[in-house]
Amino acid sequence: MKSAGTGSAADFLPSVSTLPALREAAAGCRGCGLYRYATQTVFGEGPARARLMLVGEQPGDQEDRAGHPFVGPSGRLLDQALEEAGIDRATVYVTNAVKHFKFVRQELTRRRLHKKPAVGEVRACRPWLEAEAKVVRPALIVALGSTAAQSLLGPRFRVTRERGRVVESGAGPVLATVHPSAILRAPGETRAAEQRAFVRDLTVAARWLARATARPSLARRPTRRARTSLR
Ligand code: URA
Ligand code: SF4
Repeated sequence: MKSAGTGSAADFLPSVSTLPALREAAAGCRGCGLYRYATQTVFGEGPARARLMLVGEQPGDQEDRAGHPFVGPSGRLLDQALEEAGIDRATVYVTNAVKHFKFVRQELTRRRLHKKPAVGEVRACRPWLEAEAKVVRPALIVALGSTAAQSLLGPRFRVTRERGRVVESGAGPVLATVHPSAILRAPGETRAAEQRAFVRDLTVAARWLARATARPSLARRPTRRARTSLR
C-alpha cells in the first residue's frame, strides 16, 4: 500500500546538489501523501543560472499531466504578464512550493479540482524549493500567491500587506505578488485591474533586477525587511 509519506522531502535529497540530480530524486519523493494520487512530480524548470526565480503554489491539472510547471490557464496568464513586464520567460527559473498536484474529484464530472495544500505538505516539500534556490542562486525570487510567499517568508507573511516589495528571506530577496489563478477567478469588473496590478509587481521585479545588475551589492543586501518600494 502507498504510504502517507515520511514527513519531509529531506529524506529524499540526493548527495549531490545539481538540478538534474534534484529533479531525478524528486521524481521518487514520498515526503508527504500527495505523491499517491498525482501523476508525477512537477519539478522546477529553467536555466540553472537564472537571475529570477518564480515560485507558484503547486502544479494544476494540466501541469500534472504534462509534467511541466505553469503550462495551463494560469501559465498562459503568467506568460502574458511576464511579456508585458518585459521579462523573457526563457530566462526565468519557474517552480512551485509544492511539487505534486493536490485535488478533489468533482462527483458528477469527475474533473480534478485544485485543492489548497496543507501547511504540513508545504513544509514537507520545502527542501526541494530550498535546494533549487541554493543551486540557482537567483538575484530575486518572485512568490506567486500566499502559499509560495509563506513557504519562503513564514506563516505570518501577508501578500495583501506586502505585495510588490522586495523583502529578505533565507533563500534570498523575495518579492511577493498574487497568484495568476486569483486573477482568473476575479469577477469580470475587477479582473483587468487585478491583471494590471500583477504586471506592475512584475515590472517592479524587473527594475529591481536591472538595478541589482548595475549595482551588484544591492542584490546581496536588501536585508532589512525592506519597506522601500521601488515603484
Ligand atoms: N498554479 C501553480 O501554482 N503552479 C503551476 O505550475 C500551475 C498552476
Ligand atoms: Fe514530496 Fe513535495 Fe510531492 Fe510531497 S508534494 S511527495 S514533499 S515532492
